[in-house]
Amino acid sequence: MIVVGICGSPREQATDYVLKLALDELRKQGIETHFFTVKGKKINFCIHCDYCIQHKECVFKDDMQEVYSLLRKANGIIFATPVYNGGVSAQTKALMDRCRAAEAGEKNFFENKVGMGIALGGDRIGGQEAALSQIITFYILNAILPVSGGYFGSNLGATFWTKDNLEGVKQDTEGFRSLKKTMKKFTNLLKNLQELNNGK
Ligand SMILES: Cc1cc2nc3c(=O)[nH]c(=O)nc-3n(C[C@H](O)[C@H](O)[C@H](O)COP(=O)(O)O)c2cc1C
Repeated sequence: MIVVGICGSPREQATDYVLKLALDELRKQGIETHFFTVKGKKINFCIHCDYCIQHKECVFKDDMQEVYSLLRKANGIIFATPVYNGGVSAQTKALMDRCRAAEAGEKNFFENKVGMGIALGGDRIGGQEAALSQIITFYILNAILPVSGGYFGSNLGATFWTKDNLEGVKQDTEGFRSLKKTMKKFTNLLKNLQELNNGK
């Protein structure tokens, strides 16, 4: 089983830290994990040239090539984003938009994969849920099965209050509770799907 974590922060700070912790937890459960960060990477905006529809691949040969190959083999996907202006970071959104080429190149590219989201804001209520809604909408659009953490502490997924720095996020015990709940649902669904597939 393979889980790919995408970090949508251009810094090696709170988002990077929390996502790496989540992937560490999964590795302890025997799950293979891969980490990709947008930090220092070249990810062009989708320019809607429709080259991908005609040629089954994106016109740009930038760092998205690595993302495509990681996502192709993933059973589970975790998008972790800092909240920028009440939504996902522009880097996260650019990466999502470029996934149009993955679907254009390979029908059902994302089908039967499982997705969860982590959103981290500098403010306690700064748009984390709105950012998670964007991530979940991306999953639904691409036939990725979205999971949340559910009622009583997690709702749409994992949400963190960072106070704009790494030390702040480390103190956010509620955030880690929401992460734990979301990851439990995520791994349960991944394992259930694997059992179903093995029973085929
Ligand atoms: C351009 C920009 C916009 C931001 N907008 C918000 C916001 O709407 N709500 C919020 O809570 N924090 C906002 N922040 C703060 C970041 O979400 C916060 O510092 C977060 O921890 C950054 O993640 P990182 O440490 O992984 O880079 C913004 C930061 C930047 C740079």
